[in-house]
Amino acid sequence: MIPDSNSRVKLLKIKFKNMKINHLRKEYSRLTLSRNDLKTTPLSQLKIWLEDALSANVLEPNAMFLATVDKQGMPSSRIVLLKEIEENGLLFFTNYRSKKGRDIEDNPYGSATFFWKELERQATFFGQIVKVDEERSQNYFATRPRASQLAAWASKQGEKASSRSEIDEAYTQEEKKWEGREITKPPYWGGFLLMPSGATFWQGREKRLHDHFLYSKNSEGTWDTARLYP
Ligand SMILES: Cc1cc2nc3c(=O)[nH]c(=O)nc-3n(C[C@H](O)[C@H](O)[C@H](O)COP(=O)(O)O)c2cc1C
Repeated sequence: MIPDSNSRVKLLKIKFKNMKINHLRKEYSRLTLSRNDLKTTPLSQLKIWLEDALSANVLEPNAMFLATVDKQGMPSSRIVLLKEIEENGLLFFTNYRSKKGRDIEDNPYGSATFFWKELERQATFFGQIVKVDEERSQNYFATRPRASQLAAWASKQGEKASSRSEIDEAYTQEEKKWEGREITKPPYWGGFLLMPSGATFWQGREKRLHDHFLYSKNSEGTWDTARLYP
């Protein structure tokens, strides 16, 4: 007999209650990474791994954990979507007044980590973060769906709201304000470019002996690579 959805939820709850996360263990054995596979720059290597993630139908392949550090040295992280691999960096868009935006203003360094679990792969990038020019941000903003454009105006990203309806109301107000008009980019919204000075690529392997490589930029501006212990 197939259990109904309530019984299924009950069964799942029992399963999770008895599950010990310290007992979760997975062997990684799908793929390997050798020094000969590595492209000459970390951004061209990222392109290959993103294409692999797309082909493998990974959910949100361009989602990256962006870590920033505030004035006091306190780190924080959150996911943002990579929108473009530029010649010298990773481009993402956000609200400049958000926590991450203020952190970057105060301390213009950060890291971004991708995890493609279906491929047992991780890639990390670290370096300086700079604002992109207004024109670049405007061009991208113009390609966003109208609802996302309105949300950019309505959202005071990261600020406390008294209720959900306050947020919905702010959106409705923006809808009215922009009715029948093209929506321009808010001045506090735009792109950042993380320009890596280093990167790592990690491929899960058997017995926890993973493949792990570091790219570091040398004084000539080209990239050295080294194999790291996993
Ligand atoms: C899958 C996913 C994609 C996201 N993409 C973005 C993004 O591209 N830009 C952004 O500002 N926030 C994005 N967010 C929301 C952020 O994770 C975060 O909650 C928000 O930007 C506020 O972060 P902050 O207060 O640390 O600045 C995304 C969240 C998820 C889960």
